[in-house]
Amino acid sequence: MPHDFMPGLAGVPAATSSISDVDGQRGILEYRGIRVETLCAESSYLETAYLLLFGRLPSATEFQQWNRDVTHHRRIKFRIVDLLKCLPEQGHPMDALQAAVAALGMFYPGRNVKDVENNYWSAVRLVAKLPTIVAAWARLRRGDDPISPRDDLGFSENFFYMLTESVAPPLWADIFDDCLILHAEHTMNASTFTGLVTASTLADPYTVVASSIGALKGPLHGGANEEVVIMLREIGMVEKARSYVSRAMENKKKLMGFGHRVYKVKDPRATVLQQLCRRLFAESGSSPLYEVALEVEAAAGESLNSKGIYPNVDFYSGIIYDKMGMDIDLFTPLFAMSRVSGWLAHWLEQLRENKLFRPDQIYSGEHNRPYVPIDQR
Ligand code: CMC
Repeated sequence: MPHDFMPGLAGVPAATSSISDVDGQRGILEYRGIRVETLCAESSYLETAYLLLFGRLPSATEFQQWNRDVTHHRRIKFRIVDLLKCLPEQGHPMDALQAAVAALGMFYPGRNVKDVENNYWSAVRLVAKLPTIVAAWARLRRGDDPISPRDDLGFSENFFYMLTESVAPPLWADIFDDCLILHAEHTMNASTFTGLVTASTLADPYTVVASSIGALKGPLHGGANEEVVIMLREIGMVEKARSYVSRAMENKKKLMGFGHRVYKVKDPRATVLQQLCRRLFAESGSSPLYEVALEVEAAAGESLNSKGIYPNVDFYSGIIYDKMGMDIDLFTPLFAMSRVSGWLAHWLEQLRENKLFRPDQIYSGEHNRPYVPIDQR
């Protein structure tokens, strides 16, 4: 049967899913039917992760249990730390995270993905341990010892603590938690699709997440948040923003943090991130990068908005992380340690009615070519 080929599978549904929905024309993102803005205002990352994974908000008792389970499983084996110590400190943290997550699976070898109980504990471990790995790597590569998680601290507070050995101001932990909510899930993006393909082979969830981490790393996907801050730093001052944007447009260079396959208006996550920027700066002082970003958005809008290109989630997130003192190359791992809940939700959904992904191709090569011996070529 002939098929239309859609480059990048644009507009081709790869699954039916009840996890999240994007209305790209109206700029609406919902997780399990709840607007992401509402979740930022009312929920926490851990509660949102539960919502994504299990399809509904937890009762108080369920949340208590989930929180206890995740908190209890934050520690990582010393051999994972040893593995991280062996990696070159100049290496990208996404590579270290991918290696450590793949290795995690070797410590928890339950391969039967039909075992519901086992799947629950895999989800708990992955949600719990990714932040510990990210923080451990961030410290090890500069010669510091990793810091063990503290059970008396919430998810985001504990992450700051493992990174810096001090407890972050409550507003910072709160804002960071909202950033995690905003990054937790986003329909059929490249890393989720990658995870689904891996999941459809019935591979274990550590392998599923490791493959998703690989896809997230690229600059057209999660890697854009890092590129944005590099670009804003390169621009350096508000006065240079317009000429930078004009040059980029003339050279047909893509502006990082702009554009989206689905959104044809401003990404609602970018709008919330801007509000978070303002809350953060009201307490901790402004960031010159933010002023530059506003000017870039205004200047780029003049040529790009008519094409449906606006800031996406990656445009303002890095400014927040930068203000909180985080290294630029940690931005995409932060994305991963949040998105893991979305990836796992899709993994569980895929398992319910699994069908191996095995798309077709349109062959454009030759047939019946003769084999020419090497001395006659
Ligand atoms: N700056 C300037 N022009 C752009 C941009 C941009 N950021 N994005 C798209 N365009 C133009 C593109 O040049 C093309 O123009 P023309 O039709 O004249 O050739 C047109 O818009 C369509 O672009 P496309 O790349 O074919 O569209 P797509 O749907 O494949 O693009 C995208 C989606 C995210 C890959 C793209 O917008 C992009 O490369 N953006 C920059 C990277 C980025 O910010 N990525 C993060 C995406 S959101 C979060 C995430 O997934 O992690």
